[in-house]
Amino acid sequence: MPNHESKPPAALGSGVDRRAFCLGALAAGLALASSGCGGGSAADPMPGPAPTLPVTTTDTKAGLLATPNGTTRDYRNQGSFFLVRDATGIYAMTAICTHLGCTVGLSSGGSLLCPCHGSQYDLAGANLVGPAVLPLAHLEVTEATPGGFLTVNPARPVAAAARLS
Ligand code: FES
Repeated sequence: MPNHESKPPAALGSGVDRRAFCLGALAAGLALASSGCGGGSAADPMPGPAPTLPVTTTDTKAGLLATPNGTTRDYRNQGSFFLVRDATGIYAMTAICTHLGCTVGLSSGGSLLCPCHGSQYDLAGANLVGPAVLPLAHLEVTEATPGGFLTVNPARPVAAAARLS
């Protein structure tokens, strides 16, 4: 004779299963957040939390000053910024678009292009094409030690005319 005893389904009925479900959902959410919100890395232009910790680069002042004007070092994967050498020195500039925070990319023509909505900036960060209406922020750049590698502090914006020379 078949057993017709009715038992509640194991899934979603008990506290343990709900807890397991919620932990799984939390883990999935964290995985999604970490993959989609990595600070807007070069590989993923979507907005994420802006970096705030200083980053020591692999460039020195002397080395970068010895390069031609317009030389751009790409540090989007380490701290979402560029190091640029121009006629008056070296500056660091964020790669975070002022529209909604995507990571801008370098175009072959030397300008910076945001892949999300098409904003465009020149190499000094001035906005050329919207929807962004503000320029890219310039960041403090110093030598970690005299003659040593350059350190960029994303938490310390500086005037666009500031140069290390
Ligand atoms: S986030 Fe860059 S144009 Fe919208």
